[in-house]
Amino acid sequence: MDYSKMKIPHHVGIIVDGNGRWAEEHGKKRSYGHKIGSENLEKISHYILKKTGIKVLSVYVFSTENFKRSKEEVDYLMDLFTKKFKRYAKRYQKENIKVIFSGRRNPLDEEVLKTMDEITEMTKNNTGGILNFCLNYGGHSEIVDATLKVFKDLRENKIIEDDVNEELFGHYLYQDLPPIDFLIRTSGEYRISNFMLWQSSYAEFYFPKTYFPDFNEEEFDKAILEYTTRDRRFGGIDYEKKNS
Ligand code: FPP
Repeated sequence: MDYSKMKIPHHVGIIVDGNGRWAEEHGKKRSYGHKIGSENLEKISHYILKKTGIKVLSVYVFSTENFKRSKEEVDYLMDLFTKKFKRYAKRYQKENIKVIFSGRRNPLDEEVLKTMDEITEMTKNNTGGILNFCLNYGGHSEIVDATLKVFKDLRENKIIEDDVNEELFGHYLYQDLPPIDFLIRTSGEYRISNFMLWQSSYAEFYFPKTYFPDFNEEEFDKAILEYTTRDRRFGGIDYEKKNS
């Protein structure tokens, strides 16, 4: 699809969902679904950040609540993250993509944290798109953690109470990113499950039935076509349209 003349979002969020069901429907173990999901993420993130003009992509790959899953699944995912981040580092460096992470470090293990830090450091000066992995991420914990940082700066007299407003608060979140314009959750579930609550306040939502491993370029093009039909008013009224 030719994106050059389209109204495209600046920041897209994807809630990766349906790996497990995709695997079950193919008669495989859930872990296989995560493996294929991670391969798809590599392809689709390349397409989004390199072929469409979209500048920021946030992907929800592990929530704070996902630690409630079986030890076997959590261990598999942590191992997959470690392996994949090692592999992604070279690829994203070559593609000029800056990789960042949102979430709590605790209780992620040293191995995962090390690969996360390496890829962050390696790609920190890249300018050709931002890929934000939300890992051990929760929207509530992000707001609590930001509040604690604000309190600390108040205590240390780095800011005064009058400085605290929506704009300043936004700078205290895990990453200082623009708001999410378009939020996609694959697999036909209609929830946001604690994903980027602050940043999604005026996001447009899209819930395709497709499981994440099958969410390919064509599916993404369909999503963007839907986005172009949305009338974004941010709480205001489009008077020109109303009177025409
Ligand atoms: C949702 O499917 C997916 C997850 C809980 C996270 C796993 C994400 C990946 C493996 C892709 C990203 C990979 C890397 C390396 C960053 P689900 O298990 O909730 O599916 P279900 O709802 O069908 O059970």
